[in-house]
Amino acid sequence: MRAVIFGASGLLGRSVLHTFAGTSVTGTGFSRSSNGLVRVDATSAGDIERLLDRDRPGVVVNCVGERRPVAWASTPDQARGRNVVTARLIAEGARRYGARLLHISSDYVFDGQAAPYRPNDRPKPLNVYGRWKLLAEQAVLAACPDAVILRLPMLYGPVQFAAETNLTDIARQVSLGAQMELDDVCVRYPTHADEAAEVCRRLAEALLHGQCTASVIHWSASQGFTKYRLALMIARRFGLSDEHIRAGKADATRGDRPLDCRLVCQGLPAAFDSVRRRPFRTEFPSVVEPWLPFPRPVAS
Ligand SMILES: NC(=O)c1ccc[n+]([C@@H]2O[C@H](COP(=O)([O-])OP(=O)(O)OC[C@H]3O[C@@H](n4cnc5c(N)ncnc54)[C@H](OP(=O)(O)O)[C@@H]3O)[C@@H](O)[C@H]2O)c1
Repeated sequence: MRAVIFGASGLLGRSVLHTFAGTSVTGTGFSRSSNGLVRVDATSAGDIERLLDRDRPGVVVNCVGERRPVAWASTPDQARGRNVVTARLIAEGARRYGARLLHISSDYVFDGQAAPYRPNDRPKPLNVYGRWKLLAEQAVLAACPDAVILRLPMLYGPVQFAAETNLTDIARQVSLGAQMELDDVCVRYPTHADEAAEVCRRLAEALLHGQCTASVIHWSASQGFTKYRLALMIARRFGLSDEHIRAGKADATRGDRPLDCRLVCQGLPAAFDSVRRRPFRTEFPSVVEPWLPFPRPVAS
């Protein structure tokens, strides 16, 4: 298999690149393009074309995006470009070079009022990020009709800095001990990046062998937690005080965060039943432990 992974320097892309080890694969980065990654600005059609022309991949996985709320607010044009323009240009490139395309999208295309959501349920985004992810999906399918969209929920996994994911950011705050209030209303379904990456690898093979006919696929862990519950689990697992953690409803009351976007995993061939599930309760300690100043693991 010849593959190109766009956005291979990010949380999901790093895991996806790892699962493609042993194939003829190229990963791209943008601001973080060291360690053998090719620097590609995916808002540039020329950059994309040069790489696809050089590598002629059978499959392209697009993990490029901007999912940090601070960027949606502070540099909206750039954030829109990173979510929508990149998606369209990569899809146009994949189509031009005859590659099958797997495009990563988000559960935020739904408003969270009517979970669970199936792939064919009508998207209704609540915030600007969800609208961009939906615009990206539409642009991808218009440019490359045989592309597959994989919608994922909140991801976690090994990070390069604590603020890279909500989970590690919460863990760092829990361990610092300052007063904190976390939303206890909005439910998220933290899914390990390595699990999502395994799905990507299998989908890439299914696409190449004509075994996937769906346009939109959902994948998600089954257990949901609020941010407050995540913080309590971290405190208990590592023997830290939880007296400074209060339950709030900041996300629910601000009006632009979905309450519950539980995704129904549908549209996949039966072979995906054997994807290794990574239960959050057993996986999160090894992910957060490096970011706790004084980790004191206790028996689970
Ligand atoms: N993380 C989640 O909880 C989550 C949940 C659901 C869906 N998703 C979706 O999954 C995909 C991957 O998310 P992620 O969490 O891995 O994001 P991430 O860690 O923020 O990584 C984003 C990737 O996009 C690259 N990128 C940004 N702007 C670019 C540009 N102009 N040209 C080329 N590459 C560019 C980044 O490169 P550099 O870092 O090198 O600049 C990085 O590799 C995104 O579509 C995201 O919306 C994520």
